[in-house]
Amino acid sequence: MSTSKTYQPLGLEWNKPITNREAKMQIAQAVAMRVLAGEVVGIGSGSTSFLTVLALGERVQREKLSISVVPTSIEMELACHAVGLTVHSDVPLSIDCCFDGADEIDPSGRLIKGRGGALYREKLVFAATRKRLIVADKSKDVEHLGCKFPVPVEVKPQWVRLAYDRLHQMPHVEQVALRMGLAKDGPVVTESGNLLLDVKLSKITTEDEHALNSIPGVVCIGVFSGFDFERIAD
Ligand code: 5RP
Repeated sequence: MSTSKTYQPLGLEWNKPITNREAKMQIAQAVAMRVLAGEVVGIGSGSTSFLTVLALGERVQREKLSISVVPTSIEMELACHAVGLTVHSDVPLSIDCCFDGADEIDPSGRLIKGRGGALYREKLVFAATRKRLIVADKSKDVEHLGCKFPVPVEVKPQWVRLAYDRLHQMPHVEQVALRMGLAKDGPVVTESGNLLLDVKLSKITTEDEHALNSIPGVVCIGVFSGFDFERIAD
């Protein structure tokens, strides 16, 4: 079919300007070279992961590398298809390696994640993977967790009012907001069909993590702690 219109496969655009693009590109190139032939690769979300998918797609085409991928979000699944990566329709029994971004990293290696809204799927893929890479430029380093970002808490929709009330009763909680859509009326719905409460805490202790995880209806919290990973920075 001949047409004068330009055609770009769906998924090749990021939906906003990418901050620290140069640093993120550098990280993306480095991570794309770390993937080995035959690996099942978990694909994280966020703009750094997006740039990494583009770099990985180029490498796969160039080297005819045989890999398959497990994306953590709808936008990354579209990006993977757009660059020709083989996407698993089901969760495979093992994931060899994964990369994912972070919103904050503290000196002990605890992370805040979930700004992009794919929290639970990100945690599942991260937990299921053998070799974990965190793709995070230096702007993500913080002295203490929670100083820049709220902690996203993914909640079953039917339980959100109860969780909202319980969160307000917790000692270090300063603010709780139901995350709302920008190009859609009403709340953001995650890849797993849940809602997100963004919780601003004055500090985040291990007890706070346990308390957040114990609230009825909470599926997952955006604090990632106790995971081994390698940090790829600029
Ligand atoms: C999405 C995330 C992202 O990995 C995190 O927000 C980093 O994004 P970016 O690479 O755009 O800075 O946790 O849920």
